[in-house]
Order: sequence, then structure tokens, then C-alpha cells
Amino acid sequence: MKKDKAFAKVDRFFAEIERSGLALTYGDVRLKTGYSDSDPKDASITSFFSRNVPLNCPLVSAAMDTVTEASMAIAMAMFGGLGIIHKALTAEQQAAQVRQVKRYLNCMVETPICVKEDETMGDILDRSLKSGFDFHSFPVLSNSGKIVGLLTRNNFEFCTDPKTTASRAMTPFKDLVTAPSGTSAKEAYAILSGQHKKVLPLINETRELTGMFVYSDLKRLMFGLSSQYNVDTDSHLRVGAAIDVGPEELVRAEMLLEAGCDVLVIDKAHGDMRPVKEMLTSLKGLKQKYPGRDVVAGNVSEPESALRLAKWGADGIKVGQGPGSICTTRDIAGVGCPQVTAVYNCAKAVRGMGIPLCADGGVTKSGDIPVALAIGASSVMMGFVLAGTDKAPGKFKETNRGRVKVYRGMGSLEAMKESYAARARYRQGDTPKDKLVAEGVVSTVPYRGSVTKVLETQVGGLRAGLGYVGANSIPELQKKADLHWLSAAGQTESHPHDVDVTDKTQ
Ligand code: XMP
Repeated sequence: MKKDKAFAKVDRFFAEIERSGLALTYGDVRLKTGYSDSDPKDASITSFFSRNVPLNCPLVSAAMDTVTEASMAIAMAMFGGLGIIHKALTAEQQAAQVRQVKRYLNCMVETPICVKEDETMGDILDRSLKSGFDFHSFPVLSNSGKIVGLLTRNNFEFCTDPKTTASRAMTPFKDLVTAPSGTSAKEAYAILSGQHKKVLPLINETRELTGMFVYSDLKRLMFGLSSQYNVDTDSHLRVGAAIDVGPEELVRAEMLLEAGCDVLVIDKAHGDMRPVKEMLTSLKGLKQKYPGRDVVAGNVSEPESALRLAKWGADGIKVGQGPGSICTTRDIAGVGCPQVTAVYNCAKAVRGMGIPLCADGGVTKSGDIPVALAIGASSVMMGFVLAGTDKAPGKFKETNRGRVKVYRGMGSLEAMKESYAARARYRQGDTPKDKLVAEGVVSTVPYRGSVTKVLETQVGGLRAGLGYVGANSIPELQKKADLHWLSAAGQTESHPHDVDVTDKTQ
């Protein structure tokens, strides 16, 4: 039926806009409201970041060193979205971050806190209190580093003399249930529930401890996995990682895939260039070796560029050149397209090819998210919205304007001086540090506390948008959406006006 065709109305809207030669961004448009027959809280907000990487909510955290490392990526995936670990790290460091995300739900304690066989129970309890440990299971090691036994809550409870050594109080190795390194969470659960044990030390051939599973954590994993988590087929959180182009980056790419990375993101300020094409071609071999893993490429802002990335083999396309809150690319280089027009044109260029598009940068309010999705994006990438939260790298600072966190452009002088990867993103990899031309700024953003709370607000806005349009899902939004183009007065009217706002928490 004609009226059900996706994008029919936004196509008409943009055809008119195109005739006037205008390019629009988020503040210029609002979605038209429509008849609604369902509750927005029941709407589906599932989507895709790339061909094989689904999302339970269409939010992605930016590959920036003040936004996404393992903690943010874990929080994003647990919320149903995705985090892209930045590349201003060595390949080893970045792969370690990916592993951290992948293992998060595994419940394996990778480096268990151990005690020495000749330590006294009193000293161990003291250390435990001072360090604030909230557990009582300690593998006991000999002086040569081999596991000789295990202390659990029972051993502490039945020990009346604090001078007793660990080796006397512990359950000795011969009575322990252990498993070899590499045992999976599922296998560990089966062993512990079968043997009615609470702790499973993992050991190698020379009886060194290589990890430990705890039954209560495993039980939570087996039965308490939230359906909201964005997990792969092995129940590990999904994660992405940024890479650059060139032979060394192929090595990085393989390390990341080996670590379990679900999607590589070729992260260039300008994605429409030969080295990106060559990188996409070179990565085809790795994609065969690691089936189901994707490569997203960007950034672009013109339809011809998006089409080229699609033809070169990208599994997802990232759109945005200069819309970011910390970007100065448009001022510096005089290039770029306002984000709403860029997203619409790029999405239209690859429509029907099955290649999801991510709208990267420029989102400042939750209302921007339904707009981006309505005009063809499958996800939005955010730096600004997430940089002030507890899971962004770095601590907050107290200032006379309240608590703030640093948020900097990867093209800021500071970031580029510190990191080759940041310089390379702006094609200044070999430029002497005193000749760098910045394409971003260093800033502070208000500290916003819990990232989950911030994400809830963003998703709340998205759901409200779906409700006002009368859509029950993102595909339905794309079928029903139509836009108003705002006058200057209309823009003013769209924000709080003529009042002194006293509650600035939104
Ligand atoms: P927001 O608006 O969420 O944008 O802060 C985040 C996106 O901005 C891009 N980015 C930059 N763009 N100069 C730029 O022109 C920079 O220094 C810079 N650093 C990040 C990037 O795409 C990010 O996801």
C-alpha cells in the first residue's frame, strides 16, 4: 500500500528542501505528530549497528578517549546499545579492553586475591577488612606460587585462634574441586552445581592458579541474564573497536577480532578516500577468518561517499562530518553538511542494500534521536551526551561551576599531540607536533552521574517521540514520519522561553 512505504513522506519533505538548496540539522526540524493506538513504553526500539550486530536500543558511544573504554562499553551493552573502544591506545591495550568487556558476564575472576600458606587467619581478616573485600574465598598459594588449598567463609567461621596459619585452616588441595584453564562459565556451573561447591579454582598443568569461578555469580549469569543486554551467541556483551587504515592497523584489527571484538570501525574524519577502500579490501580475509564479525566505515556526509563505502564492502556506514559538539572541522576546512540532511541523503543512497547507517555526532537532546532514526539512521553515536557520566574515562573535577568532566575532540591539539591515532584520524599522522592544525577543542561538560540514568532519559525521549508519531517500532517510525521545517520563531518556541528555568536537570 502506498501510504505504508518507508520514507515516503520524508522523501517529499527533502525533495522540497533540496529545491531551495538548503541543508538542515536537528534544531531545524521536528517530527509531525500522528494518531497513536499503543503505549510508547511497549514500542520496540531494536535496531542494528551493522549487518550482523543488532542493538536492543539504538544508542552507541563514541570512539573517543574521553568517552569509551571498557567501563562505558560494558554499560552501553548492558543497556542494550554498544560501545566503540577508542584507538588512542596500543593495539594490546585496546584488545585488553575488548577482552574485559567480553569477559564481564563470564563471572570468571581473572586475578583472584590469594593468600600465602604461612599468613595467619588474623592477618588475612585484617587485610580483608582494610581493603573492603566483600568476599571470603581466598585461594592459598605456596611460596613457589602453586595452589595448595582454599579458604572459604566456613574456614573463617570455624577458626577460633587468629594465629592459625592459612595452611592449617584451609581445605587442602586434595579435597578441592578444580578445573583446567579455559573452562567456560557453562561448564563451571555444571561442575559446581553437580558437586555442591561454591568456588571453582582454575589451574594449569603446573598447578598454578589461572582464574576462579564463584557459584553465586554463575547462577546470576545462567538465570538472571537481562533480556535487555546486548549479548552475542555465547552470552558475552557485544563490543566494537575503532581502527585506522594501513598494514599496521591490519595487525591491530586481527588482535581485536581475536579478543572477541564484534565490529571494527574504520574511524576517519574523512572516510571517502582510497586508504579506506584499500583497508576494507584488506579486511575481507579477516572477515572470512572470523565469520559474523563486521566492519563499519566512516565518516562521510554525502550520498556518493556513502554509496562508495557500501560498494567497497562496509557492513555499516557512519555519517557525520563536523556536527560534533567538540568539532571545528567545518570552521577549519570550510566543509561538511548539516547533520539531518547528511543522514537523510546518505541513508537514501544506500536504501535497500541492508547496510545500517549510524548518525554520528550532533545529538544534544533526546529529541534528536527519533529524528535521526526517522530519516534513515539505524543508530546514533554520542560523545557529548555520555562524556559527563560516571563510566566515561577520567574523574570529575570540582570547579566553581560545579562538578565537570573533561570532554575533548580527538582532533584537538591536546589529543593529537598525545596520540598518533588521533593525528592519523585527521591525516596528520606524520605532521610535526608544532605544525598540527586542530579540528577539535578541549572542553568540560557538567558531571551527569550515572550513565544508566542518562541513557534512560535518552530512551525515554525516543519512546515519547515514537508515541507522538504513532509508531510502534523504528521501521514503523520510518513509514509514518513526516517533518516540519522550523522558522527561527518556531525554533525559539521549541525550547523553554519567556521563563526563568529553575530546574535545569533536563
Ligand atoms: P558529539 O556531538 O556527540 O559528537 O560530541 C561526537 C563525534 O564527534 C566526532 N569527533 C570529532 N569531530 N573534530 C571533529 O571534527 C574532533 O576533534 C572530533 N572528535 C570527535 C566523532 O565522530 C564523534 O563520534
